[in-house]
Amino acid sequence: MNLLKPVAPDRLPELLKCMPKAELHIHIEGSLEPEMIFALAQRNGLAIPYSSVDELRRAYAFTNLQSFLDIYYAGASVLLKEQDFYDMARAYLQKAAADKVLHTELFFDPQTHTVRGVSMETVVGGLHRACVDAQAELGISASLIMCFLRHLSEEDAFETLEQALPFRDQIIGIGLDSGEVGNPPEKFARVFARSRELGFHLVAHAGEEGPPAYVWTALDVLKVERIDHGVQSSRDAALMQRLARDRIPLTVCPLSNLKLCVVPELAAHNLRQLLDAGLVATVNSDDPTYFGGYLNDNFTQTFAALGLDAQHAYTLARNSFEASFIDESAKRRYIDQLNETFASFQ
Ligand code: ADE
Ligand code: ZN
Repeated sequence: MNLLKPVAPDRLPELLKCMPKAELHIHIEGSLEPEMIFALAQRNGLAIPYSSVDELRRAYAFTNLQSFLDIYYAGASVLLKEQDFYDMARAYLQKAAADKVLHTELFFDPQTHTVRGVSMETVVGGLHRACVDAQAELGISASLIMCFLRHLSEEDAFETLEQALPFRDQIIGIGLDSGEVGNPPEKFARVFARSRELGFHLVAHAGEEGPPAYVWTALDVLKVERIDHGVQSSRDAALMQRLARDRIPLTVCPLSNLKLCVVPELAAHNLRQLLDAGLVATVNSDDPTYFGGYLNDNFTQTFAALGLDAQHAYTLARNSFEASFIDESAKRRYIDQLNETFASFQ
């Protein structure tokens, strides 16, 4: 939108909070609050190796992606029943709605659960029911993207895809996550090709810690429609041109990059550079409880650190709707709402 009214810097946090937005990179297992981990462990009669919520929270000091994943998978091990998955997703969707998220696409990691004997039906059933209820009760639309764990084999991913087929209509897309370095996208070429034939949307984590080469192969081999993270792309000028030319969205997660030491401080984040290069960048929370903030925390802290303004806010919110997998008429409706918010913001 042109002709944006000037917004005083001290009013910017308010605008960031009230502007309509979409969240496209949130691992639902990464929204499990320590309090809920303890409550679910008790409900399910499970022991956890921490004596208190505070002790667990103190363990959230990470040096890289793997140091986080070890704790994240341990936290998710308290999820057993359909109601557990429902409660987890419900809690996130309530927070997202309060952050003025109108639409969200939730990642889930079925292999983390099926390996413990929890069925795909239990996982998808609870998450999907929470999405349906959230639409009716909170007015937020939510859909599910199933991620393959890239540290496991492609054969394992194929088996997971097979298990998901009875729930095909409850899953909009396929993603790729977990430890990136040493597990390049091309390891999953065949299972992504099959997922594509089945009509799923495709995304992949690439260029979080891994090199720009992984972003290239996510695009050219996996044929993904969005890149999750992608912040390492700025090391490759030809890749930046490709991402801009093809309008491939990047789902950037600034607080995640800070907490996993991808950047030494938020002020060193390349979000402004990505936007200046014409990329369709978006802001997301990744694993909000582990990285110290939900979506609006990511917006407000990053804007403060980088000195971004109302025009950046508009672009990022608009990008979030453009990059989403909702239909064109819903996109139009959400963007109209965004325009109205900016036009009436005093
Ligand atoms: N799983 C959950 N969060 C992740 C991240 N930031 N990168 C890769 N895999 C993840
Ligand atoms: Zn992620």
